[in-house]
Amino acid sequence: MSPSLSTDDAVSHINATPRLHLRRKRIIVAMTGATGTILGIKLLIALRRLNVETHLVISKWAEQTLKYETDYHASNLRALADHVHSINDMAAPIASGSFRVDGMIVVPCSMKTLAAISTGLCDDLISRAADVMLKERRRLVLVARETPLSEIHLRNMLDVTRTGAVIFPPVPAFYIRPSSVDDLVDQSVGRMLDLFDLDTEDFERWNGWKKE
Ligand SMILES: Cc1cc2nc3c(=O)[nH]c(=O)nc-3n(C[C@H](O)[C@H](O)[C@H](O)COP(=O)(O)O)c2cc1C
Repeated sequence: MSPSLSTDDAVSHINATPRLHLRRKRIIVAMTGATGTILGIKLLIALRRLNVETHLVISKWAEQTLKYETDYHASNLRALADHVHSINDMAAPIASGSFRVDGMIVVPCSMKTLAAISTGLCDDLISRAADVMLKERRRLVLVARETPLSEIHLRNMLDVTRTGAVIFPPVPAFYIRPSSVDDLVDQSVGRMLDLFDLDTEDFERWNGWKKE
């Protein structure tokens, strides 16, 4: 039987009130084994305050680094996200381009994960979800952390930038005259979220020279 649509049906389809799909902004947060896990923690807290739905993926080495450099346990970290996916779950919604998200941030991003993304090696959920962002032309921010940088690191950064990702090294802005590491982290997190058109409103923006 061929599908049929009466003229009346067609007219009522056309005249139907458009459905408003007002969903919360949705961002994937991936954490990998580079130093700077506090950046990921503070980013998740900021996104919670901004009422953004978060999908969190943590690598094995991110968990180790988290334990070493903060008082957080992975369970505290997971509690900050709306959804948590195992890095091995290649069937998670975020592994598909048909699942609608507003972007992804890898914070911090190790040179290993950067290399995986730059070559399209989708062997875990982080590199797969990042690959999806690039193919769907969605916002992908990599808070790439290493120093000094080798030619391989720089080449990988250039390749992903050319494909549409934003490399955001967590480099401190000393012009804010920080009085604590917290100030520097808040400024970095605020600037990362600027890239998603989100304003944390908890860091000082450059407004020209301050008058004495
Ligand atoms: C304490 C600690 C700090 C590390 N810091 C960095 C770093 O800043 N940048 C980096 O690229 N790798 C760093 N590594 C090495 C990565 O954890 C390692 O390459 C790992 O394979 C990354 O895997 P992942 O990207 O799946 O998390 C660090 C490792 C440890 C144990």
